[in-house]
Amino acid sequence: VDSLPLVPVRLVDREPVVPPDTLVAGMVPPPRFDRARFSTYVPSEPSQHAAVVVLQELFAEVPKKWFRKAPDHVPGVYLDGGFGVGKTHLLASLWHEAPGPKAYCTFVELTHVVGALTFNGTVEALSDHRLLCIDEFELDDPGDTVLVSTLLGRLTDAGVRLACTSNTLPDALGEGRFDTGDFLREIQGLAARFTSVRVDGEDYRHRGLPSAPQPMSRQELLVRSTDDGSFDGFEALLDHLARLHPSRYGAMLDGLDLVCFDRVVPVFDQSHALRLVVLIDRLYDRDLPVATSGIPLDQLFPDELLRGGYRKKYLRAISRLTALAREGQTH
Ligand SMILES: Nc1ncnc2c1ncn2[C@@H]1O[C@H](COP(=O)(O)OP(=O)(O)O)[C@@H](O)[C@H]1O
Ligand SMILES: [Mg+2]
Repeated sequence: VDSLPLVPVRLVDREPVVPPDTLVAGMVPPPRFDRARFSTYVPSEPSQHAAVVVLQELFAEVPKKWFRKAPDHVPGVYLDGGFGVGKTHLLASLWHEAPGPKAYCTFVELTHVVGALTFNGTVEALSDHRLLCIDEFELDDPGDTVLVSTLLGRLTDAGVRLACTSNTLPDALGEGRFDTGDFLREIQGLAARFTSVRVDGEDYRHRGLPSAPQPMSRQELLVRSTDDGSFDGFEALLDHLARLHPSRYGAMLDGLDLVCFDRVVPVFDQSHALRLVVLIDRLYDRDLPVATSGIPLDQLFPDELLRGGYRKKYLRAISRLTALAREGQTH
């Protein structure tokens, strides 16, 4: 009995069901930002300092006792700035320090919540909240942008304060900036309710760190896998993701301390690739180390996808996965 071979957890065997009330209760900052507070944010330049001051002032106003304000007087804030300047850190700090009920999610997660609860169900579930924080507001899908800005209109009418961040890539990757002008234009009627705050600086995340690690051989990967880790053939995992609603990807990772992808290949299919992006975001939220065999991770998304409309998402996913694979090397 004591010589039973190790049978690793396989993500493809997991199909968690997330009930609607758990979905809303789970709208909190990711574990990576559990300890993010205004006091742990170290401004490195004036705009970063100013952002902290604006957030603290605006949300010192979040009422401890509930009272309703006219929608025009419910302040919202929009943090705009490059990659790694601490926008998510600040947004999570705000959430942690504000009184509840309050909710925190990414833009994409919010669209998943609406998918699971319906539009009216979501309005109902969030209307009594004092604060809704939305990380990485996306404007690349017009349908989602309209859906979310309509939702936000209903929520601010009910007195919910909003704080959002933009979704920008580092200048080094040659991306045009996603700027406040785009945001305010797209959310039209809501624009007057937002104060926008520009946060500048360098990417804190990749400062002085090495680039993408080399993939392991399959043998090394098997040796590396842990009792509380998962081990999946990469292509089988992509098929599994297609069968599972993206709102369930996070729960699929519960309890794991390492995630191994065996025989990684380039992902040519756009829908597979977009689901993989969601999985990578959930891995990053949980700060879960990743180990891989197969192709180097910078070849994960082929050029034809990187040239398309979801370029930003793919580049962000590679940056995140690379950071997790670096952690997986020393795990
Ligand atoms: N000024 C800062 N002081 C302390 N930690 C920071 C600062 N800026 C960024 N970080 C940390 O660096 C990492 C990346 O920051 P993040 O908030 O994710 O950036 P962004 O959302 O702007 O891309 C996080 O772990 C965050 O806590
Ligand atoms: Mg962020």
